[in-house]
Amino acid sequence: MDKVVDHINVNRDRYVDELKDYLAIPSISALPEHAADVRRCADWTADQMRHIGLQSVRLEETPGHPVVYGEWLGAEGAPTILFYGHYDVQPVDPLNLWTSPPFEATIRDGEIYARGSADDKGQVFMHFKAVEAHMKENGRLPVNMKFLIEGEEEVGSANLDKYVDANKSALQADVVVISDSPMFDRGIPSICYGLRGLAYFQIDMRGTKSDLHSGSFGGAVANPAMVLAQVLAQMKDRGGRIKIPGFYDDVVPLRPEEREEFARLPFNEKKFRQDLGAPKLFGETGYSTLERIWARPTFEVNGLLSGFTGEGAKTVLPAIAMAKVSMRLVPNQDPKKIGDLFEAYVKKVTPKTVDLKLTRMHGGKPWMTAFDNPFVQAAGRAIEKGFGQRPVFNREGGSIPVVATFQEELGLPCVLFGVGLPDENAHAPDEKLDLGNFHNGIIASAFLYGEIGSLPRT
Ligand code: BES
Ligand code: MN
Ligand code: MN
Repeated sequence: MDKVVDHINVNRDRYVDELKDYLAIPSISALPEHAADVRRCADWTADQMRHIGLQSVRLEETPGHPVVYGEWLGAEGAPTILFYGHYDVQPVDPLNLWTSPPFEATIRDGEIYARGSADDKGQVFMHFKAVEAHMKENGRLPVNMKFLIEGEEEVGSANLDKYVDANKSALQADVVVISDSPMFDRGIPSICYGLRGLAYFQIDMRGTKSDLHSGSFGGAVANPAMVLAQVLAQMKDRGGRIKIPGFYDDVVPLRPEEREEFARLPFNEKKFRQDLGAPKLFGETGYSTLERIWARPTFEVNGLLSGFTGEGAKTVLPAIAMAKVSMRLVPNQDPKKIGDLFEAYVKKVTPKTVDLKLTRMHGGKPWMTAFDNPFVQAAGRAIEKGFGQRPVFNREGGSIPVVATFQEELGLPCVLFGVGLPDENAHAPDEKLDLGNFHNGIIASAFLYGEIGSLPRT
């Protein structure tokens, strides 16, 4: 491994230059006008995979954006890693809040700023460079690897379950490795053993066939903005508990030991609040902040639209109101079942004064795994070698829809080893990745392949 680590150290600057090219492609999966860029990014990903020595590299077409697949299966008798990541990124608005352009990667204070730097191109690229270092120094990998890099994670991975299902035997492996999450804190690497799921909806309400003069008509018809606000206000009680009947039925309660483990983590609530600029924190009564984010479900309004929002005043009674809302789910909540409960409740609490339309958008199952398996232990050793520090175990509030599919459909354990940071600004302006973590992450990944390669096959 010394040669491999040396190789990584010597090539540090080149890696950053290459990553800049990757980050220059605006592969925004949500926006149809960027479809050609998303494909260009898939091609770039495939070219990179060929360049580092992966074989059978190909674009797999889906009804949406392509999946990029590549493999190296020359480690006879050794286990196989299925590596998963995504090459698509989130939209960049509001653009004016970026310090430097989102697709011109810029380094400031040891961090590389660009859309996709942390989520997830930078973290995918880290693994490409770990593969490359092994191949360049040894002409082989210490483990078999299959790479599956998708282009629709940020829009809910709608076509990926089908792809996995159709390629079950081709995707057979011993373990899934993913780097698509933040580490616990700066200087505190972590292995994530739980993710929340998601159920996302759009709510549309219509009060009248067009906007009205609010003097001539106000008071005689319901105002859809008001009705929407009243409906949303009935989603949670004042203690932050969700009021949808049956919502908590399948929630696995936090075990006392897990609560103790959370409480032992070096989490500074005051700093957390100050970093967010929040006057006061708010969440479900009876739970700590980490418990609320990692292990309790939530209901959030993601967007609201109605009436006149321009400068000045306009006396108008809006015809329509719209909200985007989502629920983060925890084991064993099922997005489909929760979606049904939500629909029934919204229909029940919405008065007859408006026409209601509910649209189901993306969803994903929650995921949690035991972390006493040999792969997680191997990852722990690799991270210690890359970062000089043993990782802590954490859960995360975000979602990666396919992880539950890997567990349920392929029966595979997943190791989530992310090197982002809580202040990485994923999905927000000034997304960034710490270059020290990127570098250590390449080394840790290189060790991880060796550690898993020397485990017995399952
Ligand atoms: N990388 C994130 C998932 C994530 C975020 C894991 C924070 C751990 C901590 C991923 O790219 C993401 O943003 N997922 C979406 C999924 C959705 C579009 C179905 C999410 O969580 O909102
Ligand atoms: Mn991601
Ligand atoms: Mn994301």
